[in-house]
Amino acid sequence: ATRPEPTAEETLAADGKATFDSLRPHLDSLVARYPAPAAALLPVLWHVQRSRGWLTPTSIHEIAGYLGVPQAQVEGVITFYTMFQDRPTGRDVAMVCKTLTCRLRGAQDVMDALEDHFHVPMGGTTEDGRFTFEAAECLGLCDMAPCMLVVDADRYGDLTPESAVKHLEDRS
Ligand code: FES
Repeated sequence: ATRPEPTAEETLAADGKATFDSLRPHLDSLVARYPAPAAALLPVLWHVQRSRGWLTPTSIHEIAGYLGVPQAQVEGVITFYTMFQDRPTGRDVAMVCKTLTCRLRGAQDVMDALEDHFHVPMGGTTEDGRFTFEAAECLGLCDMAPCMLVVDADRYGDLTPESAVKHLEDRS
């Protein structure tokens, strides 16, 4: 299951956290590091997401206009990278690696334990808004397999079903 489409209220609330004009000075400084504005798409998306919580339809429209790239290209990049969110998330986004090395070392058991304990499927957000879970492709932490990454915060490796649940419970 995936998360529901954002409501108009959720979109307004996210957009209200920061106007595009207030983000512009920092975005300009990011764009200045690249030979062409379009090349700054990833850092620009990241900054807007951090400022507003997730990438709203307004954000996507504004970013496309700002960088002079087609809106479909912005949407494609957001869909491709697990770290970008186009709908509201919980306070923490926990990504569990589902790729081969982690899978061979028990990633599925870890995901099952998290789903059972937090009563939410991968891709969903807990009812209390604490966590959004994502089953992700290789996180680049294969030496710590099976592993989990809380976006913008911590990395956890050598997980067992029990330690995965405990790491997340201990975050609050
Ligand atoms: Fe899981 Fe690389 S396969 S981090």
